[in-house]
Amino acid sequence: MKSLQGKSIILGITGGIAAYKAAALTSKLTQKGAEVHVIMTSSAKQFITELTLQSLSKQKVYSDTFQERDPSSISHIDLADAADLVLIAPATANIIAKMAHGLADDMLSTTLLATTAPIMVAPAMNVHMYQHPAVLSNMDILYNRGVQFIEPGEGLLACGYVGKGRLEEPEEIVKVVENFFVLQKEKTSGPLAGKKVVITAGGTVERIDPVRYISNDSSGKMGFALARTARTMGAAVTLIAARTDEAPPRDAGIDLVRVQSAQEMHDAVMARWSECDILVKAAAVADYRPRESSDSKIKKSGSTMTLELVKTTDILESLGRIKDKQFLIGFAAETGNAEVYAKDKLVRKNLDLIVANDVAVEGAGFGTDTNIVKVYDAEGLVLDLPLASKDEVARRILRLAAERVTGALI
Ligand code: PMT
Repeated sequence: MKSLQGKSIILGITGGIAAYKAAALTSKLTQKGAEVHVIMTSSAKQFITELTLQSLSKQKVYSDTFQERDPSSISHIDLADAADLVLIAPATANIIAKMAHGLADDMLSTTLLATTAPIMVAPAMNVHMYQHPAVLSNMDILYNRGVQFIEPGEGLLACGYVGKGRLEEPEEIVKVVENFFVLQKEKTSGPLAGKKVVITAGGTVERIDPVRYISNDSSGKMGFALARTARTMGAAVTLIAARTDEAPPRDAGIDLVRVQSAQEMHDAVMARWSECDILVKAAAVADYRPRESSDSKIKKSGSTMTLELVKTTDILESLGRIKDKQFLIGFAAETGNAEVYAKDKLVRKNLDLIVANDVAVEGAGFGTDTNIVKVYDAEGLVLDLPLASKDEVARRILRLAAERVTGALI
């Protein structure tokens, strides 16, 4: 079977010189089995003809919202409803702005508002336009709304400048589309399909005053990798993130909750606990917080200053006490003696698994893209992973969890 067989794709073509590449893109998507419904803007028609795209897609090409030929249907609504994916390639700064602000003044922009299908955008424009704050901010709005971008390549642009702005090659765009449908399939039939997974990430922030706080070096990378992977494996994910260095993933199906302190993380986790099947606590949570947090900046006075700290609630330990059907995974960040401390936490906090990482070892722990972990259950060591990417570490941990929760061998 062809990789895109049975998929209905709306290909939106907007008015830039790269519109000529849309012919190859239409042809390749069609050859892979997709039903390609082209919608062109009036400017796109200055660069490429409807007839070309109609011949390649073997489908009617649309451009005018008011040119309804079939009285029994309304084209932009029908197309919008039937689409598995809307791909805009090339996407000009103009269509990106219209999408970001909800304008609907032609067939393409109206269809984009009417569809609930996932949307992919492949921008192509002059390098300075691509870097313009207005364009960047519009792309940001769309990104945060779940639109997936296919970044333009670098090279000689039609305007004579060399830089970023050239439409990605049609073969590469087709690969992204194929990959999208593979991932989508995994999400509905993956080993964690139907499961609710809660992941915590980042370092909690315990306020001393409005300008100072106690925190730690967690970047959020380990938790983010777990959230993305759980989603790819089919779970509905809630990501509870404290302070992080990087932007959290915004994929559809990952519900992001931002918190600051250990207490806020505790409340956010507890609010989702009864619904949760698997909880992974990758966050680095403060063990102590200042007894008092001042509402105004604390002024410099004597040569020393004493900060009185009190214990925070141990979230994981509290969960371990009330655990019912949930599968509970903790992390242990140690600097030496990892095995002993991790096993102690496993028992004390009543966990199903504990992931020990020695954060003093190069390539492991805070801020890195890699980790080195050993995973224990009540019987002992169940997974020994030498240096691997945090994505791979996440995959192996969640596979273990999925096997134990669903009983299936993965
Ligand atoms: O974010 P990165 O830069 O990618 O770094 C990843 C990481 C090093 C933060 C991660 O791999 C990790 O080890 N996370 C756990 C850090 C930690 O707080 O470890 P701990 O040994 O102090 O705590 C043990 C467990 O109890 C942890 O799951 C922690 O979330 C939990 N805990 C701790 C204190 C507390 N008050 N409540 C808790 O729930």
